Amino acid sequence: MKIELEQNKVFFKNGSEKKEIHPFWLRERVNGEEYLDKGTQQRLFDPTFLNNDISINKANISENFLEINFNDGVNSKLEIEKITSEFSKEDVVIKSIEKQKWDSSLKNIKNFKFQENFYDSREMYELLVSFYKYGFVIIKDVPSTKNYIVDFANSIGSVRRTNFGEYFDVKSKPDPNDLAYTSLALAPHTDNPYRNPVPCIQLLHCIESKVTGGLSTLVDGFTVTEDLKKENPDFYKILTEVKVRFRFIDKEVILETICPLIELDENNSFKQVRFSPRLDYVPILDKEKLDLYYQARKKLSEMYNSEKYRIEFKLKPKDLMMMDNHRLLHGRTSYETKEGERYLQGCYIDYDSSEGKLRHLKRKFNL
Ligand SMILES: [Fe+2]
Repeated sequence: MKIELEQNKVFFKNGSEKKEIHPFWLRERVNGEEYLDKGTQQRLFDPTFLNNDISINKANISENFLEINFNDGVNSKLEIEKITSEFSKEDVVIKSIEKQKWDSSLKNIKNFKFQENFYDSREMYELLVSFYKYGFVIIKDVPSTKNYIVDFANSIGSVRRTNFGEYFDVKSKPDPNDLAYTSLALAPHTDNPYRNPVPCIQLLHCIESKVTGGLSTLVDGFTVTEDLKKENPDFYKILTEVKVRFRFIDKEVILETICPLIELDENNSFKQVRFSPRLDYVPILDKEKLDLYYQARKKLSEMYNSEKYRIEFKLKPKDLMMMDNHRLLHGRTSYETKEGERYLQGCYIDYDSSEGKLRHLKRKFNL
């Protein structure tokens, strides 16, 4: 990628493609100290107040800079590298971390260990990269007193509070408003599919685990989706198309959203899965279409619940698991309440937290 000049016009050259850069686009990016606040990188002027009729009187390339005199009397020296980096439409920091497909054969995934100054460390950067690769990460030795999970979440970004509170206690209790608060097994599911937007990342922190059973289970929804697409394209297609109503009701609130079980992004690539078959309601469709939908959902459920895709492990006290609730499904095996206590605390954060931290650490360590 290159910048070229021709008769006071600036061109962006990428391979055989050559396009003129709009003078206004360059004018918006003037960076002298009277135009740009160095700390925040926010403009000190409002470009919507400028005359649209901006042109270039003189342009010059010297080493790594593009020097421009605009027709409104403003001069600027722009870093060429910064200009070219803007021509990549994708978020290079996050998108450059390729998702790794995994199933029950997943082995030797790195666990991280909580330590002093953890949140601003190189270790935290590695942790976040691993999180984006696999969709989950486990951190050992995280302090487990005084609801420390909230401090943990707020040190990466900000807790995403829900109607379950800032954090929630996962243990069996009388008169529960969700099956999570019983000792029953929980099949693989995503949390809160009825919420808009769905919380992105769930943190689960083990405080106590004195029971047999109660293993945590994880399934990679990304792997299952990709396999379904290959093996059963018709099932894949209908599950990406049919929008289903997810609803949560208790005495305080009715939460509802209407979305497909497999959601794709604007490039028709994997974006998000939602799966919680105790609270999804498909609309009335043609019988043939519903026939296909029910077969597809059954197949999807069989895949999510099959041993082929599931990993199981026991969280020990002070273990904190961070998992992508848009990508992974989680569950647990049942346990016996008479034996002792199984007590986890959970909370959510959103992608702005993990992404913001990751970009910051990349900048800090010059990576
Ligand atoms: Fe859950």
